[in-house]
Amino acid sequence: MPKTTSGKIKVIRVKKEDCPQLLVLLSAIHAEEHPEDPQTVKDVEMGVRESLKRYDVFSSDSSWFLAALFDGEPVGYAAFVRISKLDQRVGFLYLDELHVLDGYRRRGVGTALLGEAFALVNRRGLAGIRLLTRPQNSSAQRFYEKHGFSGNRAILYQWVTGPKDNSLLESET
Ligand SMILES: CC(C)(COP(=O)(O)OP(=O)(O)OC[C@H]1O[C@@H](n2cnc3c(N)ncnc32)[C@H](O)[C@@H]1OP(=O)(O)O)[C@@H](O)C(=O)NCCC(=O)NCCS
Repeated sequence: MPKTTSGKIKVIRVKKEDCPQLLVLLSAIHAEEHPEDPQTVKDVEMGVRESLKRYDVFSSDSSWFLAALFDGEPVGYAAFVRISKLDQRVGFLYLDELHVLDGYRRRGVGTALLGEAFALVNRRGLAGIRLLTRPQNSSAQRFYEKHGFSGNRAILYQWVTGPKDNSLLESET
């Protein structure tokens, strides 16, 4: 994916060699989302290593991990995947994760990350972008609505192989 620059913001598609920077960013995001359970870069690294052992996401042509750099500092993260449709819609992008570090919000970082998803939808001739957000996450809703998304209430059902813990759902949207 080509790099995008908008002022001081640059969005890159994360590759294997960007992992050290990615780990720092993912640890900072984890600390914001779970202040009660801070993880070190080492903990995050273990998770990334385990995931890559089972599936090389960086070689996938249907998964994208983006990092937004602000003045060279990694401050934003987005993960999305392609959902294919066997009809005229061709497919959607599913935005699984989007996070901008607290001190860097309202400066266009989220918009720059989303801009890459819009560009990808256009290049691949897809029908659009889908995502989930919690009903109480009004900032995210304002953000998506500003960018032309419309929302419907839905129930997320999830079947998991590990412990049946609903807090898993809380952390993901
Ligand atoms: C949602 C999020 C990604 C937006 O990123 P961002 O970099 O702040 O967004 P941008 O600066 O590109 O866009 C900001 C626009 O979105 C809307 N917006 C963003 N945050 C808002 C808020 N707290 N209140 C109202 N509107 C908001 C506004 O329209 C705003 O434009 P403005 O600043 O000119 O008023 C960011 O707030 C975030 O990471 N939140 C925590 C994680 C999260 O909720 N992720 C989404 C999960 S579905």
